[in-house]
Amino acid sequence: MIEKVESQMNLLVEEVGYSRATELFKTLKGGKRLRAKLIFKIAPNAENAPRLGAIVELIHAASLLHDDVIDDAMTRRGVSSVNATQGSKTSIMLGDILYSKAFATLVEFDDSIASRIASAVTSLSVGEMIDVEMASSFNKDEDKYLEMIYLKTASLIEACSACGAILAGKDPEKFALYGKNLGLAFQIIDDILDITSDEETLGKPALNDFIEGKCTLPYIYLYEALDPVDKKRLTSCHSRKISDLDSEWIKEEMVKLKTIEKSYMLAQKLTQEAIEAVKGEKELVNILESMMKRNF
Ligand code: FPP
Ligand code: MG
Repeated sequence: MIEKVESQMNLLVEEVGYSRATELFKTLKGGKRLRAKLIFKIAPNAENAPRLGAIVELIHAASLLHDDVIDDAMTRRGVSSVNATQGSKTSIMLGDILYSKAFATLVEFDDSIASRIASAVTSLSVGEMIDVEMASSFNKDEDKYLEMIYLKTASLIEACSACGAILAGKDPEKFALYGKNLGLAFQIIDDILDITSDEETLGKPALNDFIEGKCTLPYIYLYEALDPVDKKRLTSCHSRKISDLDSEWIKEEMVKLKTIEKSYMLAQKLTQEAIEAVKGEKELVNILESMMKRNF
């Protein structure tokens, strides 16, 4: 099925009729294709599931092309980002081509599907803006963080699950809940891996989020647990290059005060709720389990 999604994506990009876009698109690393996978696992018999999968993966690829410009990221999925090799303008314009083509194709689908995907893309754009805005100061608010990751990451995954259900004639709300919780847990794990993985596995510097100003869940819990003097030390490390000494200190305190563990437990609770929502859908449970176990 994933091959069908890949060939639909290539076809849609070919249809744009601009060889430079086709060539650049071919250089992008595909990733896990989680969003498309959800659609065709939920609607395995729907003929147009690969086409919808291709649409959402093009939107996702476009959002990452823009995100790498916004984050000044030099690498994506272990290879140089398009902004690093071709410049930011090209990365933005390639993103524009991909998502506008995706939207032009989305109109083939029923309004119930098109409107969910389109609203999710508005949410992820708002989420991205809030993420950037939040990074300008040390965020201590867990709810604010959860709302931001819902918008930035979970909203599109939620929409994909619900749309898969619509294609399959299943209850979209149950699957929406599954997708929302999968998306939230996915981002929490991503944020944990930024702290626990090494540079080589991540394809970006360790503790990169905090250096960029992003206070993810383990940092929010750490701040809550530290005494006033150490709170000061932590906030003084925020949003700048961290010394090896401080970096080790942060990691040690996180282990000691179990803030990684606490973050992981929230991801696990969300996962459990997601499993409950789609009881008996073995493949969907497998997706959740391998997502929780991943190390990249
Ligand atoms: C990755 O976040 C970014 C997203 C999940 C969403 C980005 C959304 C936009 C740029 C809005 C524009 C949308 C379109 C369709 C053009 P991250 O920086 O936390 O993750 P990373 O470590 O993978 O970069
Ligand atoms: Mg980024």
